[in-house]
Amino acid sequence: MSQDAKPSLPVAKGPLIYRQSIWTRLTHWVWAICLFFLLLSGLQIFNAHPALYIGQESGFEYDNAVLRIGAVNTPDGPRGRTIVFGQTFDTTGLLGMSGPEANPSYTAFPGAVTIPSFRDLASGRVVHFFFGWIFVGALFVWFLASFINGHLRRDIVPKGADLSGLPRDVLDHARFRLHRGRRYSPLQKLSYFIVFFVLFPLIVLTGLTMSPGMDAAWPWLLDIFGGRQTARSIHFAVMVLLVLFFIIHIVMVLLAGPLNGLRSMITGWYRTGPATPRQEGDRS
Ligand code: HEM
Repeated sequence: MSQDAKPSLPVAKGPLIYRQSIWTRLTHWVWAICLFFLLLSGLQIFNAHPALYIGQESGFEYDNAVLRIGAVNTPDGPRGRTIVFGQTFDTTGLLGMSGPEANPSYTAFPGAVTIPSFRDLASGRVVHFFFGWIFVGALFVWFLASFINGHLRRDIVPKGADLSGLPRDVLDHARFRLHRGRRYSPLQKLSYFIVFFVLFPLIVLTGLTMSPGMDAAWPWLLDIFGGRQTARSIHFAVMVLLVLFFIIHIVMVLLAGPLNGLRSMITGWYRTGPATPRQEGDRS
């Protein structure tokens, strides 16, 4: 051996454990696919009337828009313009006006992020409702299976110990010190809990509130969400939060070890890290 050669250190690994049940894995991928189609077809539907309102009314004579995306004529030619809570932004190239300079498209969201890529509200609605109901079905299956197999109680609903460990876990995440324990960390639990108990139910219920048929069957939906226009704005806001969750989720999966994480979400088997004193809370 040469002077420079260093003995290779064994990589610290914990045991391989069966962490994700078939129901967790199946529903996870079903809603990942559904959310992709729901997002892009939803943006197509939004483009048909690219403004959001708070309150019961909408129309030319009211000034209750909280978001408006469009194009305006200026002395320099047409520009994309987005108004959020009264603040105006020039969003040329992104929102309101996009595409090649010689032949721009005047849609709120560009065709690259809508399904279909051209203006077609009817097809957008067909795709949206198709994947919407599959999403609801998968959510129902997840709640039932997770209640029966204990995943809900064990891994999702945060306990007192999770809440007290939360500040520490937030700090660890901020320093990119991710632990590969048997169970989700407090921050993971809390974020998945918010996804399952706040964001997913809210996006489904506000979606139903926009359906005239559902309003006839369940008029209380309109009372809860303050009318169809407010429900539409909440639906849009939750979509934005889910997109943010998705971005952070993927960054965390990449930082924590993408192959290990993906394997656990495909086969169920997860390689834990070396035990640390703080992982005593990782009870099976
Ligand atoms: C819109 C898309 C997605 C949503 C809403 C989502 C949401 C979730 C949720 C709620 C969980 C916890 C599931 C449970 O315990 O029952 C989870 C776990 C997980 N997801 Fe996603 N996910 C999405 C896409 C993805 C993608 C594209 C990947 C892969 C690149 C991915 C990788 C994982 C992994 C590895 C876990 C397990 C985390 C762990 O064991 O620490 N997810 N996801």
